[in-house]
Amino acid sequence: MEITTSRGLRGMITVAPDKSISHRAVMMGSISKGKTVIQNFLMGEDCLSTIDCFRKTGIPIDIKNNQVSVTGNGLRGLKPPQELLYTGNSGTTTRLLCGLLAPQHFSCTLDGDASIRRRPMNRVIEPLREMGAKITGTKGGYSPITIEGTGLRGINYNMPVASAQLKSALILAGLYADGETTIFEPKASRNHTELMINGFGGNITAEKNKITVNPAEELFGHDITVPGDISSAAFFLVAALIVPNSEITIQNVGLNDTRTGIIDVLKSMGASIHIEKAGDGIEPAGTITVKHSPLHGTEIGGELIPRLIDELPILAVAAAFAEGRTVIRDAEELKVKESNRIEAMENELKKAGINVCSTVDGLIIEGGKPVHSANFQTYNDHRVAMSMAVLALAAEGTSRIENHQCINISYPDFFKTLKSVQ
Ligand code: S3P
Repeated sequence: MEITTSRGLRGMITVAPDKSISHRAVMMGSISKGKTVIQNFLMGEDCLSTIDCFRKTGIPIDIKNNQVSVTGNGLRGLKPPQELLYTGNSGTTTRLLCGLLAPQHFSCTLDGDASIRRRPMNRVIEPLREMGAKITGTKGGYSPITIEGTGLRGINYNMPVASAQLKSALILAGLYADGETTIFEPKASRNHTELMINGFGGNITAEKNKITVNPAEELFGHDITVPGDISSAAFFLVAALIVPNSEITIQNVGLNDTRTGIIDVLKSMGASIHIEKAGDGIEPAGTITVKHSPLHGTEIGGELIPRLIDELPILAVAAAFAEGRTVIRDAEELKVKESNRIEAMENELKKAGINVCSTVDGLIIEGGKPVHSANFQTYNDHRVAMSMAVLALAAEGTSRIENHQCINISYPDFFKTLKSVQ
């Protein structure tokens, strides 16, 4: 895919539906009684992997356009799968399913693609074993993972990393446990699982970074409309900011506070961003308007990191066009995403002539200097691919994005939407 310098991006768009919420809606629908109709479901490869896994456990799931109907058979209504559960490239599917499947009455095996096989699974395997789970990873804690379903007990657990996938795995296991499960997070991470379970009739309480899971008797199907994904909107926010003569309005974007770190950071860099919140359902949403703005460097670390973990590659691009130094720290988790995103972004930004240096837990970027086109690799990582495509819009010359199809993981229409604002 070739991308040339843009002279301005303008228009009103919507972005891909939220990936985290789409996954969870299928999971909750599958373990609830009755029907769950999900509107504006993300038809990306990751969420389709989740659908595929639940179909294999006997749950009827119909897809019509971007509406998904799940007919659950209650908390204990899953059936033994006849084949391996393939989770593709999806960390969320793999880790949340570990928690959800550990307390079932059957055995199963989970496996994914080459990237999934490199991602650490001990972070879920160890606490689940503390709960009594019979779960085994391969080669010291990787996929394939085998699970022999068994009864679980509630535990108190101090999470060693701020990870919504880990937290959610333990919450799902806790629904089935004998007694209460209490989880302490080192920093607040996205809370879609907590909100959705309560919406389906469960009882999860959260105060500060302490989450208490009360075992459920039964959950009940609930219709859900998925808002746009702020992690997908992020590419258009940064594109409009760094390409002169740009103004983009993005409608119906999820604005859950645990996800909006990127807006706080871009504003602190000098971005002109205007937000209009629309209603306040389970998941708040609204319209974001962004205009080209001169940016300056900033520091990104601490509590902010889990609130923008998936946006760090595109924030590194914003930093390259911002005057002065940007420091990203406390982000070692980036090394164990779909690719090693610290290494990937360092390599690719350097190709465009940007002064960037990796650290143990992040990147230091000296921005505001000329940026030129290049042939960019994607590491088969959707967020690296879209970040480099955005950089190419503001770089001098024509760039190439190799293997751009990997965007199908989270944003199949990315290039179509980009074309609509050019
Ligand atoms: C996600 C949590 C985050 C995020 C991922 C989606 C989720 O991962 O990076 O894209 O849906 O729970 P971690 O839990 O590993 O931080």
